[in-house]
Amino acid sequence: MIELTVNNRKLQLDVAEQMPLLWALRDHLGLTGTKFGCGAGLCGACTVHLDGKAIRSCVTPISSAQGKRITTIEGLSAVSDHPVQLAWIAEDVPQCGYCQSGQIMQAVALLAETPQPSEQQIEQAMAGNLCRCGTYNRIKSAIRRAAKSNESMAVAAVNTALVDNEATEVRS
Ligand code: FES
Ligand code: FES
Repeated sequence: MIELTVNNRKLQLDVAEQMPLLWALRDHLGLTGTKFGCGAGLCGACTVHLDGKAIRSCVTPISSAQGKRITTIEGLSAVSDHPVQLAWIAEDVPQCGYCQSGQIMQAVALLAETPQPSEQQIEQAMAGNLCRCGTYNRIKSAIRRAAKSNESMAVAAVNTALVDNEATEVRS
């Protein structure tokens, strides 16, 4: 049994230790906001946070997430009003949308660590998140907007509680 904390909910999952975290999130927990792109750690579509750091869930065995805090796009905010999400809306970033959960999770991790990133820091942090629709310029604009907003100063406290639920749920 694997014990996880996902979006502030404690869970137990009866799955193989080597199962990629992405499958657990999508297939066992129904958190389908996190996407499968390449399955090889190369595109960033599957980006979630592990203890606040952006990781590629497609290449992260679920066993390595035991005892750590996992945050998915669903856990950023209850009503999609995280400062970075608001900046994304204001800049009308998405096209097809497929890559955007990963982009946002990567950007949130960047702004948590570096609230006022330079252009180079933005480039570097986002370089591994691919967008086949080419929304890169709008992504950068949204990150700049989030960095500027007063609210973005709270971005460091990224992993806002979606549900403050101490109960442990058992899923299989
Ligand atoms: S699906 Fe994980 S990096 Fe592409
Ligand atoms: S918005 Fe279509 S892949 Fe990025």
